[in-house]
Amino acid sequence: MTTWITICDTCKRDDWNAETATQTDGETLAALVEAANSDGADVKTRRVSCLMGCKHGCNVAIQANGKLNYTLGDFEPDADSAAAIVEYAQKHSASETGQVPFREWPQGVKGHFVTRHQPIPE
Ligand code: FES
Repeated sequence: MTTWITICDTCKRDDWNAETATQTDGETLAALVEAANSDGADVKTRRVSCLMGCKHGCNVAIQANGKLNYTLGDFEPDADSAAAIVEYAQKHSASETGQVPFREWPQGVKGHFVTRHQPIPE
């Protein structure tokens, strides 16, 4: 089942500089996540403007129908973060429930979980 990575493209970290930056930190992370997910077979990406976690950007959500869903935040907009997000999403896609065993978590997502949402009852 497809897992979606929703990336906030308006996140700005505390050190974001409006005078020098050509794009938001969220836009930078979104482009890196999209590039890291070039396969796109089990994981799809989309951008939204604001996931309402602005104080701890950069933020993403990991979602699939009928599975546990998660929001993660406080990511640096860099390639390592993007790779870890995509790897975690691939494992989420492979999981029947969306619960990825801790021992399988990519190092780069540890400490970034903000919320977990149970699937909506059918
Ligand atoms: S701007 Fe990214 S969560 Fe609000």
